[in-house]
Amino acid sequence: MSKEIKRIAVFTSGGDAPGMNAALRAVVRNASFHDLHVYGVFRGYEGMIDGDLERLERGDVGNIIHRGGTILKTARSERFRTEEGRKAAYESLLAFDIDACIAIGGNGTFTGADLFAEEFNMPFIGIPGTIDNDLFGTDYTIGFDTAINTAIEAVDKIRDTADSHNRLFFVEVMGRHSGYIALNTGIGSGAGSVIIPEVDTPVEALVEALKKSARRKKLFSVIIVAEGNQTGSAQDIARMVKEQFDFYDTKVAIIGHLQRGGSPTAMDRVLASRLGFHAVEGLLEGRENVMAGLVNNKIKFTPLKEAIVKPKKPDKELIRMAEILAL
Ligand code: F6P
Repeated sequence: MSKEIKRIAVFTSGGDAPGMNAALRAVVRNASFHDLHVYGVFRGYEGMIDGDLERLERGDVGNIIHRGGTILKTARSERFRTEEGRKAAYESLLAFDIDACIAIGGNGTFTGADLFAEEFNMPFIGIPGTIDNDLFGTDYTIGFDTAINTAIEAVDKIRDTADSHNRLFFVEVMGRHSGYIALNTGIGSGAGSVIIPEVDTPVEALVEALKKSARRKKLFSVIIVAEGNQTGSAQDIARMVKEQFDFYDTKVAIIGHLQRGGSPTAMDRVLASRLGFHAVEGLLEGRENVMAGLVNNKIKFTPLKEAIVKPKKPDKELIRMAEILAL
């Protein structure tokens, strides 16, 4: 039988994502509603190791739903990868009498949570918070919608100047191993082409497409490049294209961490509120070591192991559509 939950710890970890604060708010408010004591852990696993925990009550999470970043701060912890680090983290949780943890983060966060939960018999619930949208078990991760809105707004602006100067722009977007941001930014901004890790796009194919565009008297173009694609960085691709086809004046723009900041969109706020609320419900129902996700607009709990290991790739049909619409 699972243990009675009275005191929980909540933390954000890995890359920040807009909507993490909204998720935290929902966790604290629903937990308080059920008379649980909530402790916020600062700086993710780093703060857990250092015992950097503070009691959070309803009022402490007021006026944060609209704020980007995370008021709990975040970190990528090397120390938590070591047995010694995880033992120190467990001792901190023991010192605060913590019965269960709620982790808001991405793949790395859940990999750590899954290992820790097994080693120390500490129940964990994960909430998917990453702009990459690369976790199996949820249609959307918190922060993804805001990130693509930011990227599309940036590409709209680049398109104006590309058009004025008849230039070819390579715009690099985030998504370490995943093309979700690039693909959706490409579709939403009407880009000329999208280069993503899931599809091999040789430079020759790109050059052929650009030659076709030039023959159709297309005088400018914007190409979205996902970091981590198989061909190279936006800089590399721009250089290789220029070597083979010199028709366009070529420029590169890297959107970078702009995509990680900013006030969350309505969609991210609602998603984060739903997942935060249900993470607490899940704990109270006795669920352990699962991630709360949204599948077909319904809450679904997926074992952390599956969320980490099972691949989630952009829909092939969406990729085909993006190619046809860009022609
Ligand atoms: O995982 C989210 C993400 O934003 C990736 O898209 C990106 O590759 C990475 O984090 C950047 O991490 P950092 O901010 O630590 O450089």
